[in-house]
Amino acid sequence: MTETAFAYHQRTKHGFGGFAASPDTLDWDAQPNPFREFLGAEKIDLDLAPQNCSSAPFSRAGLGALLHLSFGLSAWKSFGPDRWALRCNPSSGNLHPTESYVLSENFPGVADGLHHYLSRDHVLEQRRADPPGEGPPRLWIGLSSIPWREAWKYGERAFRYCQLDLGHALGALAYAANTLGFSAKMVENLDSAPLSRLLGLDRAEDFGRAEREDADALIEIFEREGAPSAPADKIGLWSGAANLLDARPMYRWPVIDDVVQATLGSAGENFVATAPREAKDITAELILQRRSAQAFNPKHRMAPDEFFAMLAALAPQKSPFDLWSFSPRVHPLLFVHRVEGLPQGLYALPRSAAGEALMRQNFFADFLWRKVEEANLPLYLLKEMDARGLARRLFCNQGIGGDSSFGVALLAEFSPLVAQNPWRYRQLHWEAGLIGQVLYLEAERQNLRGTGIGCYFDDETHALFGLKDQNLQSLYHFTVGLPYVDSRIATEPAYPTKSRPEFFAHDGSNA
Ligand SMILES: Cc1cc2nc3c(=O)[nH]c(=O)nc-3n(C[C@H](O)[C@H](O)[C@H](O)COP(=O)(O)O)c2cc1C
Repeated sequence: MTETAFAYHQRTKHGFGGFAASPDTLDWDAQPNPFREFLGAEKIDLDLAPQNCSSAPFSRAGLGALLHLSFGLSAWKSFGPDRWALRCNPSSGNLHPTESYVLSENFPGVADGLHHYLSRDHVLEQRRADPPGEGPPRLWIGLSSIPWREAWKYGERAFRYCQLDLGHALGALAYAANTLGFSAKMVENLDSAPLSRLLGLDRAEDFGRAEREDADALIEIFEREGAPSAPADKIGLWSGAANLLDARPMYRWPVIDDVVQATLGSAGENFVATAPREAKDITAELILQRRSAQAFNPKHRMAPDEFFAMLAALAPQKSPFDLWSFSPRVHPLLFVHRVEGLPQGLYALPRSAAGEALMRQNFFADFLWRKVEEANLPLYLLKEMDARGLARRLFCNQGIGGDSSFGVALLAEFSPLVAQNPWRYRQLHWEAGLIGQVLYLEAERQNLRGTGIGCYFDDETHALFGLKDQNLQSLYHFTVGLPYVDSRIATEPAYPTKSRPEFFAHDGSNA
């Protein structure tokens, strides 16, 4: 199992010498359907998040707002004959492999059972109706991935993208929960097989020829705070059949099936942060305006306070990193191109003392490790250099790598952790995606914009820092800057037939 995960990681690296295996040709008109539906399932209509909401009722109206601000559509875009939806959670290639489910027990306004969330229509589809339960209201969100959506375009590297997207989804959910005054906590030590059963993903009879979904994570949502646990197995009445997303798949990527199997499992760590957890105040409007930049103004220089504030948000004591109990294992490396008053160059922001020690051991011995005192953060200048051209190159020759204010490589503590439990291969990507989601929203807060970068040259990035083995591996890149907005792309409302109320009504429904 361990060898499978390592071998997969190795063979799906991009490098100056070539890219990971992917389709030779793409028929854009044959893109898999981005919306899974369960045909025949009963639908429950949901409300959108009100314009002004800092606290929400723990009922159907609050659930509607939660799903709107996490996995809901934020706009429809069109350019010529093409039309596509954007969502609050970003996704590699906008392919959206992540699906979300709701499990409810005694939750006001929602029948007990399992529901699938169909973001296109902002409705729930009831998959399993449970007999009404007793006790306090409880709510869980289950997340799964459909690898084919990504593999269709990206081939073998697609499993990595699914996991990064899942990390973004966790972040999107945690932010939406915080914005509404709820809290989100991952149920740890829950194995893939029972989770798959809870989410109905093992029901071959309901999937037929439809593309497989892999169970990833279960998150309990609390009205305020609480200790998460999984719901008991229920014997309810199932309904709905999964739709086929791609009637004529042109390729098969068996290594993805192998790595899915090799990384099943779970873990938990009980990491206790040394400082009290801190919440962040991100508004619904900020969540709904998040977008990826396609191009940056290469002249823009970022203010140092903006830069330091963005980096401070990555501290493991802050929300949304209180979503789970895993200690921080992913550490940003920064390509600083244009920040007022800071020398251009390579920087490191270790998120733990252990991470810093590992970096110091493994990086080039002549790195400066000069602390940026004014940052009030564990931020170190490693090497002064104009890295704009290099960053562009390392980010798969994408212009945003060099035109940004700064670029990021997210370095994970890799080899012993993945060897001990191959499931950590998934979870390290989730941590990287979670960090990416913080960067996206913090960039918006600073009136800047971010873009996740799944396409980067792996070992050439490692070589720049002197890394030779697999102790530390870069799992994701990111860029932040002042965006150029393409005015040719038209924007339409996400849900033209639904309107957003101003406030929650007192009875918990939307006014
Ligand atoms: C894991 C991940 C990898 C991505 N990789 C790239 C990339 O290499 N280049 C790029 O231009 N955009 C990249 N993106 C941005 C997506 O294309 C973008 O999120 C998607 O088109 C949806 O648009 P939105 O973020 O504006 O909602 C990536 C996004 C994610 C989440």
